[in-house]
Amino acid sequence: MSKIVGIIGSGMIGSQVARLAISAGFNVVICNTRGPESLADLVAELGSKAEAAVFDEVVQATNLLVLAVPFAAYSNLSAEKLAGKILIDTLNYYPERDGVMAEVHTDKIATSELVQNHLSKSLVVRAINNMDFVRLLSRARPAGDKERSALPVASNDAEAKKVVIEFLDAIGYDAVDMGSLSDSWRSEPTMPVYVNPYWGQDTVYESGPRDVQSFMTASGRVVDKNEVSELLSKAVRHDKMFGLLGNFAVEKS
Ligand SMILES: NC(=O)c1ccc[n+]([C@@H]2O[C@H](COP(=O)([O-])OP(=O)(O)OC[C@H]3O[C@@H](n4cnc5c(N)ncnc54)[C@H](OP(=O)(O)O)[C@@H]3O)[C@@H](O)[C@H]2O)c1
Repeated sequence: MSKIVGIIGSGMIGSQVARLAISAGFNVVICNTRGPESLADLVAELGSKAEAAVFDEVVQATNLLVLAVPFAAYSNLSAEKLAGKILIDTLNYYPERDGVMAEVHTDKIATSELVQNHLSKSLVVRAINNMDFVRLLSRARPAGDKERSALPVASNDAEAKKVVIEFLDAIGYDAVDMGSLSDSWRSEPTMPVYVNPYWGQDTVYESGPRDVQSFMTASGRVVDKNEVSELLSKAVRHDKMFGLLGNFAVEKS
C-alpha cells in the first residue's frame, strides 16, 4: 500500500482522516476549493508529513485518495484525472445541503454506485461514511485493542477493497465487508449502522434536530465487527433515507 494518502476536501471529515493518517505514519496531500494557502493552519498542525496542494497535485501524488467533499460535488470531479485511482467514498447525500438530486431518489441505486458510474475508470470503495467526524478521531484504536470499533466497507473491486481495509486497520479500525457497491445502501444515512451506534444514541433513526452538544462532546461507544454485521443485516430500505434532520419529505420517483 502506498504510504501517501491524498485527501480531496479538507472539512470535518477530510481533516480528521488527515490527522488519523498522519498518526498512522502516512504522508498526506490535501486540497480544497479555496487553494493551498487556506490550509496553512491545518498543515502546520499536521506537521512535516502533510502538504497542501491543488487537486491535480493531490491526484498525481498517490493512487489512494479519500473523497471528502459534499455529495453533490462528485459529478464535478474529473473521471479522466481520477482514472485508475482507489477512491474512498465517504460521501453522504443530504438534500438540505446538496439540493434534491432525482437520481438518488430511486430506491434502486446506492449513492456510491452513482459515484462509481461517474468515476467509471476509478476503483471506488465505500467506507468511513457512516462514522461522524467527532467519533472518527476519538474512537480510533490500535489493532487488538478491546475498544476497537469496526466500519463497513464495500467495493466492486476486491483488490481495492483490500487496500482500503489495510488503510482502515492502520488508522484505527477493523472492517466488515458488506459486499459490492450495490450493497452499500446498508450504511447510508438513517440505516442502523449510520452514526448513531458509535455516538451512543438509540440505533433507531429519529426525525427532528439532534442534540448538538451531545454530538460534539459524547465519547461514544465501541461498535465491534459483530455489532456492525448485525446492524447491516437489520438495514431495510425506506422512503425517508436521506437527510440529517430526517424530516425532509421528498417524493420518490
Ligand atoms: N461531517 C461528518 O461527520 C461526516 C461523516 C461521514 C461522512 N461525511 C461526508 O463527507 C463529505 C464531507 O463532509 P464534511 O462534513 O467534511 O464537509 P465540509 O466540512 O463542508 O467540507 C467539505 C470540503 O470539501 C471541499 N470541496 C468541495 N468541493 C470540492 C472540490 N470539487 N474539490 C476539492 N475540494 C472540494 C470544501 O472546500 P472548501 O473548504 O474550500 O470549501 C471543504 O473543504 C460529505 O459528503 C459528508 O456527507 C461527513
